Amino acid sequence: MSELKKYPPSAAWMANAHVKGPAAYQALVAEAEADHEAYWGRLARELLSWKKPFTKVLNDSEAPFFKWFEDGLLNVSYNCLDRNIEAGLGDKTAIIFEADDGSVNKVSYSQLLAKVAQLANALKKRGVKKGDRVVIYMPMSVEGVAAMQACARIGATHSVVFGGFSAQSLRDRVQDAGAVMVITADEQQRGGKSLPLKAIVDEALEGGNCPTLKDVIVYKRTGGNIAWVAGRDLWLHELTASESNVCEPEWVEAEHPLFLLYTSGSTGKPKGVQHSTGGYLLHAALTTKWTFDLKPDDVFWCTADIGWVTGHTYISYGPLALGGTEVVFEGIPTFPDAGRFWQMIQKHKVSIFYTAPTAIRSLIKAAESNEVVHPKNYDLTSLRLLGSVGEPINPAAWEWYYQHIGGGNCPIVDTFWQTETGGHMITPLPGVTTLVPGSCTLPFPGITAAIVDETGNDVPNGQGGILVVKKPWPSMIRTIYGDPERFKKSYYPSELKGYYLAGDGAIRDAETGYFTITGRIDDVLNVSGHRMGTMEIESALVSCTDLVAEAAVVGRPDDTTGEAICAFVVLKRPRPSGDEAKAIAKQLRDWVAKEIGPIAKPKDIRFGDNLPKTRSGKIMRRLLRSVAKGEAVTQDTSTLENPAILEQLGQAY
Ligand code: WTA
Repeated sequence: MSELKKYPPSAAWMANAHVKGPAAYQALVAEAEADHEAYWGRLARELLSWKKPFTKVLNDSEAPFFKWFEDGLLNVSYNCLDRNIEAGLGDKTAIIFEADDGSVNKVSYSQLLAKVAQLANALKKRGVKKGDRVVIYMPMSVEGVAAMQACARIGATHSVVFGGFSAQSLRDRVQDAGAVMVITADEQQRGGKSLPLKAIVDEALEGGNCPTLKDVIVYKRTGGNIAWVAGRDLWLHELTASESNVCEPEWVEAEHPLFLLYTSGSTGKPKGVQHSTGGYLLHAALTTKWTFDLKPDDVFWCTADIGWVTGHTYISYGPLALGGTEVVFEGIPTFPDAGRFWQMIQKHKVSIFYTAPTAIRSLIKAAESNEVVHPKNYDLTSLRLLGSVGEPINPAAWEWYYQHIGGGNCPIVDTFWQTETGGHMITPLPGVTTLVPGSCTLPFPGITAAIVDETGNDVPNGQGGILVVKKPWPSMIRTIYGDPERFKKSYYPSELKGYYLAGDGAIRDAETGYFTITGRIDDVLNVSGHRMGTMEIESALVSCTDLVAEAAVVGRPDDTTGEAICAFVVLKRPRPSGDEAKAIAKQLRDWVAKEIGPIAKPKDIRFGDNLPKTRSGKIMRRLLRSVAKGEAVTQDTSTLENPAILEQLGQAY
């Protein structure tokens, strides 16, 4: 790492940031080390407004089911809306919404609260109570954020499902959560096209497979033609029109579940990661303040979708908890052309911009092949800070982002975290950290990240190992909804001394101690920053029972998407070639899109008469990974039953 260029913070950053310089960072780390509970307790009192203050910070008597601020009462929506209005920010813009077609709608804190309160009242009238689960399947919209806030206001637990997931995936989530309601839109508008949402909800709920579900609330986004189930479907605008814009918040215990968010693991179906109210909101607010250095005049833009955790923490909660102004964008980065992000930064004078390496890499390609969409054509001088999330950022993309978007003077915060961690875990702080491209640098103060071996012993810097977090932290996952055993097994395996297992490998630089994430150590793929389990894709493929006998899925490196999905398939008919192979590959891709969603479509599909197996019948995935990369197989194949198969699987058609 030492040969890479280093970027120390400027004097101005060190003087003006919320956390000012390395000494301030060290003081926070030392404060947390000296008394972990006192540190988090102090911050929870300073950053959040409590209806009833907590008297105990951490209850670890049922570890790893940790409880934070247990006897305190608060409400997330009060913290994000009412208290800002009480502080005089009622007319301040909370959300600058830009639609796919470029039209803009600004919503003030008072207007957002009114919307949230009306919807909250409507939900209550429909019988939604504290603790009920509500699934939100919405486009990027003010209404989407308001739906999440409205659930929080009445103590309902939301579960947002990304609008790109299929009917089958949506049904699984509604069923697993036992949801009483789905909030959706007629359609979503992306890249100049109207895409169905309500029709997918209809398909998901067909045949009465979701007995807990009572209502479907529909936000009219496009006015497109949709089917209507009388007695179940309700228009959002009709439901809220007559509701009061005042709604007393439901004061909930700090441990009350704010949301479930389904994410992929290495085995089985996606798991419902459950987050709390108090601890989660604390870290959402604190990281927005320290990592992004959010100030009253900033215009913050996180490009994630609210269907992912990044959209939860850094759109729906963190920036609002601090009274910030943020951009919410409905569309895609390449419509009407690949200059859209830069044009929007210019138009809205965005000062803090947070996006994923995949987006950066694809926009670099676009800018290099088409002068017109090159960022140099736009005025990006409003920017003062850049962020990256979701996957490792390669140094070349980092440098381009730094020079061409940041104009050579905006720090880049490469934030490592996960759905399970609720907020940033390892990240630079802009007024503190000397940046090194490709490294997420050092733990956020109070986060005890470390690298250990398989038995939980520390490994020295310079030597790779397993990333763990030694002590609990407020925004950590509380459980897997309905499956506490799976929670314990997945994140607190007994051999790791009670440390949280992140599921990533990492290495610390021998000289600086900086962390670099080396990738997942389980069967989870990261494609364009989206998490997917190889098992999920394999099950989707083999569920195509007419065609598929057997399937194995691995990842391979990809210049744009980070990893690409590569599927090896044995058909129930002779191995196809040429046009027939192409046609079947297309059919299988469409099948996976229907089963899971388009993001899970394999990029490569290879056919074989068989899969490489050991004599005991185990699929040898490490060999498949080499084949997927197009590498010569150099590993030992002596245990392989049918070595000839490798050549077959390597063949294109
Ligand atoms: C990966 C997204 C390297 C990692 C917030 C992690 C990263 C998974 C980074 C979580 C980063 C996320 N550098 N890798 N800055 N950020 N990851 O749950 O493998 O969708 O375990 O949360 O993304 O993905 P998730």
